Amino acid sequence: MSNQIQPKLIIHGGAGSSLKGKGGLDAVRQALHEIVAEVYQLLLEGKSATEAVIKGCQLLEDNPRFNAGTGSVLQSDGQIRMSASLMDGEKQRFSGVINVSRVKNPINLAQTLQNQEDRVLSDYGSLELLRELKYSIYDPLTDLRLHEWIEERKENFTRKMAGVVAESSENARRGTIGVVALDTQGRISAGTSTGGKGLERIGRVSDSAMPAGNYANFQAGVSCTGIGEDIIDECLAAKVVIRATDGLSLAEAMEKSIKEASVNKRDLGAIALDCHGKIVWGKTSEVLLAAYHNGKNIGDCLEWDDDKLINISE
Ligand code: GLY
Repeated sequence: MSNQIQPKLIIHGGAGSSLKGKGGLDAVRQALHEIVAEVYQLLLEGKSATEAVIKGCQLLEDNPRFNAGTGSVLQSDGQIRMSASLMDGEKQRFSGVINVSRVKNPINLAQTLQNQEDRVLSDYGSLELLRELKYSIYDPLTDLRLHEWIEERKENFTRKMAGVVAESSENARRGTIGVVALDTQGRISAGTSTGGKGLERIGRVSDSAMPAGNYANFQAGVSCTGIGEDIIDECLAAKVVIRATDGLSLAEAMEKSIKEASVNKRDLGAIALDCHGKIVWGKTSEVLLAAYHNGKNIGDCLEWDDDKLINISE
């Protein structure tokens, strides 16, 4: 017991525009805090970082407020295609599915693939895996997402749709969920899941099932949200983790990487923690819907000073 360390946890429900005045802030805060409390309890009970990340991703995928699993946005052809990945930092092993449909929790497929020879599957392979696992067919479509898509179709898809949360948003396409955990044995894992940008071309591939959007090793773990193309161009998650591994502190690694993203006019956010228990988050987007447990209390980053690119939990 004495060798055990204090577990840490950070989760996100996407990035986006301001929630103020849209009735969204309190509801998002409550949803995120409840999930943090439930998942942190698992870490206290001795569950591994990977187990905690999977549970956290499932809870976020099941909440229709967030753009992953149930409540995923529709693509240009009116279909839902989801992507998810899991990175076990202790094993430094990545697994994921790209553009999968008709499954409740895409993160479960990523979990299954952790121990297989072929660890990242695209649409066809993911469907085969679903069949193999005999998962029940599940339709993640919600009335709200269908309504948004129909409204967009009326305008011939000229307006933006698909807010990151269930409240409407004019500045959207950045929804994702993610979890990064440090367990009592000092192991780190990261998981990320998304319904994509919404209205994208068929076959578009999200950052959420790439090391650019989700990465971890023995030193640190990162999950990203925002415009997938921007995250891929910055290779954000892997870059922050590698910088932290090569000698920068996690805060320095995040700050340097977010500053570069800002110069490049990217629209993104990232959550991170390291093996020393530091919790850090950064963003170039207006809002990052993230909450954490630092071992003492639950906090969040829903209302932070817009001038700052990064922040550190106390
Ligand atoms: N970051 C989620 C996506 O662009 O698909």
